[in-house]
Amino acid sequence: MSYQNRWQTVDVQVDSGIAWVTLNRPEKKNAMSPTLNKEMIDVLETLELDPAAKVLVLTGAGDSWTAGMDLKEYFREVDNQPEIFQERIRRDASRWQWHLLRFYSKPTIAMVNGWCFGGGFSPLVACDLAIAADEATFGLSEINWGIPPGNLVSKAMADTVGHRTSMYYIMTGKTFSGVEAANMGLVNKSVPLAQLKAEVTELANNLLEKNPVVLRTAKNGFKRCRELTWEQNEDYLYAKLDQCNYRDDEGGREQGLKQFLDDKSIKPGLQAYKRPA
Ligand code: COA
Repeated sequence: MSYQNRWQTVDVQVDSGIAWVTLNRPEKKNAMSPTLNKEMIDVLETLELDPAAKVLVLTGAGDSWTAGMDLKEYFREVDNQPEIFQERIRRDASRWQWHLLRFYSKPTIAMVNGWCFGGGFSPLVACDLAIAADEATFGLSEINWGIPPGNLVSKAMADTVGHRTSMYYIMTGKTFSGVEAANMGLVNKSVPLAQLKAEVTELANNLLEKNPVVLRTAKNGFKRCRELTWEQNEDYLYAKLDQCNYRDDEGGREQGLKQFLDDKSIKPGLQAYKRPA
């Protein structure tokens, strides 16, 4: 399906199983406006039902991933609106950046190609995996323009990066590079910008080889298990494993066992089972 010009602020191309979702306001450094937030809800809900889109990559047009929330349209212009309006635009932002993206039914990769500030850390951490350009610049700039980090930005830092490092960047507003983001665990890896798309494509292709039901259960199980106790986890994770076996009409578990134990055609320690074409 072609999504050409379907959205004003987001470009979507689906190619060979990968949905390339590009925040597309390069003249505003892809700042997340209320319009963009509303459109991203529709983008994510639409792609979830598109069988051609199997892995989602979130990136930005031009030299930015995103410069965070739109200081004019998301903050200043809303200040004079009725209070309920503020409620709704915040809900739209959280809806795509957290509720939809964090537990998305398909694997997600943030491909951080440039500037990434403030509110941008929410979708960044909500994505399952993240690869940055070495040259990308990150910053928790909120302190520099007079607010503490909003939305779930602090929680995103607490979940991915250590206490001292988080506090340092939250309190100083200093910037850091893609290389530093990888060192602190905010992204999985950084590579030179010229290699970024190839690196992300290779990662996406690895995920495309995997059983999608098992992949979803594995990633969402890990994300939820942080908030549960050991006892609850034992019960929850086994329940999800059983649900996964029930939902998986490809029979991945049987295929994997057969290919290793009977056919001796794979070593699961080293490679994924071969999925039916
Ligand atoms: N909200 C609204 N507009 C933004 C924006 C944001 N977060 N970030 C950039 N823009 C706009 C600029 O106002 C400018 O608009 P104009 O051409 O109408 O004047 C345009 O995008 C280009 O930005 P500019 O500042 O000229 O680019 P630059 O390359 O010199 O600097 C940044 C890039 C990202 C360092 C700088 O724009 C910046 O500091 N942005 C704010 C980052 C931030 O604090 N985000 C808030 C997080 S909650």
